[in-house]
Amino acid sequence: MAARIYAFANQKGGVGKTTTAVNLAACLAEAGERVLLVDLDPQANATSGLGMRAGETSSYDLLDGAPLHELAQPTPFPNLSLVPSKPELAGAAVELSRRADGERFLAESLKNVEGYDFILLDCPPSLGPLTVNALGAADRVIVPVQAEYYALEGLSQLMGSINLIKSRLNPALAIAGVLITMSDTRTRLAAEVEEEVRKHFGTLVFDTVVPRSVRVAEAPSHGLPVTHYDRHSRGAEAYWKVAMELVERS
Ligand SMILES: Nc1ncnc2c1ncn2[C@@H]1O[C@H](COP(=O)(O)OP(=O)(O)OP(=O)(O)O)[C@@H](O)[C@H]1O
Ligand SMILES: [Mg+2]
Repeated sequence: MAARIYAFANQKGGVGKTTTAVNLAACLAEAGERVLLVDLDPQANATSGLGMRAGETSSYDLLDGAPLHELAQPTPFPNLSLVPSKPELAGAAVELSRRADGERFLAESLKNVEGYDFILLDCPPSLGPLTVNALGAADRVIVPVQAEYYALEGLSQLMGSINLIKSRLNPALAIAGVLITMSDTRTRLAAEVEEEVRKHFGTLVFDTVVPRSVRVAEAPSHGLPVTHYDRHSRGAEAYWKVAMELVERS
């Protein structure tokens, strides 16, 4: 069976895309799914978050048609492979905008890939060519939103882009869910933001809300998903629940 491909996208920076991609990848892998995480952000946070770094090759090489299986590296975590990123990927935006296949290179690279149950694509904070490619290649998109006063800002633009890509590039694309992250639970603001997001997106919103947690923030500096760094923390428990919801929804 072909892998299910999920993109983690929101053009807003720092909303929890990478944290969610890394931790869901870890949960799914620990549950026995074969997972490939593709780091599509020149910041390479997903790469360093797993304690990895790009060597000779990186996701940049996908642009030149290097086969995915040559770029995927094993990680210290069983069942979890990574196509790392490096800062040079920043040059991809310009290169892609000049190419005829500039919106489809990733969909081509991921076509007929075997050996994975899930492929997760961590996008940069923009609606530029790398995100467009990810949305063009994905079956589903997960939209993390930070539980703050401006949570909904920019989401209509994102939904517009998703619909455009659906009609022009990838008719099968669907939204897997909107995930509320970094919630200061028990505050009134958090409750208000959650209510507003749920009013707007209804059943698209994951039941689970990821709390703001120091353990989640610390884990990447140890090169670990929070589920490995502190498996009994509230953050780890939340990401386990999100992973279960994801599997139920898929
Ligand atoms: N639940 C959480 N609790 C505490 N800190 C968190 C949580 N989720 C994410 N963070 C921290 O918030 C910051 C932003 O998160 P993250 O890097 O996942 O966002 P992003 O959307 O991928 O950012 P970018 O747009 O720059 O790629 C990071 O420092 C991360 O460690
Ligand atoms: Mg990120």
